[in-house]
Amino acid sequence: MTTLQRAEAAEQAMSDELDRIVVKSVIYTSGERDPRAPVQRPPDQGKRYMMGDDPRLPRMPDKPTLFDFFKYRFGPANHLLQSARLAQKNGASEKVVLACLLHDIAIAGFIRSDHGYWGAQLVAPYVDEEVSWAIRYHQALRFFADESVGYRYPEAYIKLFGPDYTPEPYIERDYRYAREHKWYMTARLICVNDLYAFDPTVQVALEEFTDIVGRNFKQPKEGLGLDASPSAHMWRTIMWPTKYL
Ligand SMILES: [Fe+2]
Ligand SMILES: [Fe+2]
Repeated sequence: MTTLQRAEAAEQAMSDELDRIVVKSVIYTSGERDPRAPVQRPPDQGKRYMMGDDPRLPRMPDKPTLFDFFKYRFGPANHLLQSARLAQKNGASEKVVLACLLHDIAIAGFIRSDHGYWGAQLVAPYVDEEVSWAIRYHQALRFFADESVGYRYPEAYIKLFGPDYTPEPYIERDYRYAREHKWYMTARLICVNDLYAFDPTVQVALEEFTDIVGRNFKQPKEGLGLDASPSAHMWRTIMWPTKYL
């Protein structure tokens, strides 16, 4: 068996144990399989399809908060927590600290590609416009130095993408736009406090930011994702990623 076949067999065994059939969204598998090919459904043997809580995932509270998403759906958040703490240590405003805490949540819980844009839309209905704007543009600014604040092109990007990588034209366009914007420095401060080589021995607790989040993130009373905001559906997809429809 190839590695892929072994992985598929293991997955099949796992889904056999579930009493609901999981059909993965195209984005889960695109590239690993040709997205144009018809989806091979497992034989359903009379089973129903997944339409809610996936038993393989921890159950979310009935009225989830931002921190519940951190606890139950996001990967280790050390990078975000340490960036937020560094921003605080550097005397940044609450808006900047919050922006640092949230800047990569798309990567932590949703999707990597264009993570700044996705992350900004996720949080936009719940934060000051300046915070979501900064999250959106940190993605482009990350690739461009600003000596005035001591920000250099990240060494890590040379390793990750190679020395000859140049950002796509849309990234450069958005950098140029952001460069002239009144909130430029807010987005730039995310980059300045965006730690790649963080200290793995330093543990920062989410609760350190309870007050800042309480003052600057509008928690909907129905629960995050169960409200009617323009991005509520994105939070619901993170909560129920395998829902059939
Ligand atoms: Fe980022
Ligand atoms: Fe980051």
